[in-house]
Amino acid sequence: MSEKLVYVTRRVHFNGAHKLYNPKWSEEKNEEVFGKCANKNWHGHNFDLFVTVKGCPNPDTGFVMDLKKLKIILQEKVVSKLDHSNFNLDVDFLKDVMPSIENIAMKIWEEIAIELPSGVQLHSVKLYETENQYVEYFG
Ligand code: NI
Repeated sequence: MSEKLVYVTRRVHFNGAHKLYNPKWSEEKNEEVFGKCANKNWHGHNFDLFVTVKGCPNPDTGFVMDLKKLKIILQEKVVSKLDHSNFNLDVDFLKDVMPSIENIAMKIWEEIAIELPSGVQLHSVKLYETENQYVEYFG
């Protein structure tokens, strides 16, 4: 069987607040390690998330995956939970997680991977915190 994988990406956007703060450390150490990101009154970002799935195009549809379905998964599992939220306080799947973009990307992976139809694999989760800074997770 030939395996001709195609990679398909959808972008979504959300904004939210967080702070990076390790309660095991003193105020001074938190400030030293996290700088402004430890600001106790939070700070926000406009996040862009790129989710890439891979698979073989279905011979009947030509699709790797119905992108309407991917759109719904991302909306329900990610955007509706993160958009206009405080990541330290409001998001079920980030409970007790230091909300760095590294950790958020890994948690988003867990939320999405189990929702994909059979034959479709998650390839990457790429999360931009600023236009100059992003992380990428491959599971
Ligand atoms: Ni930040």
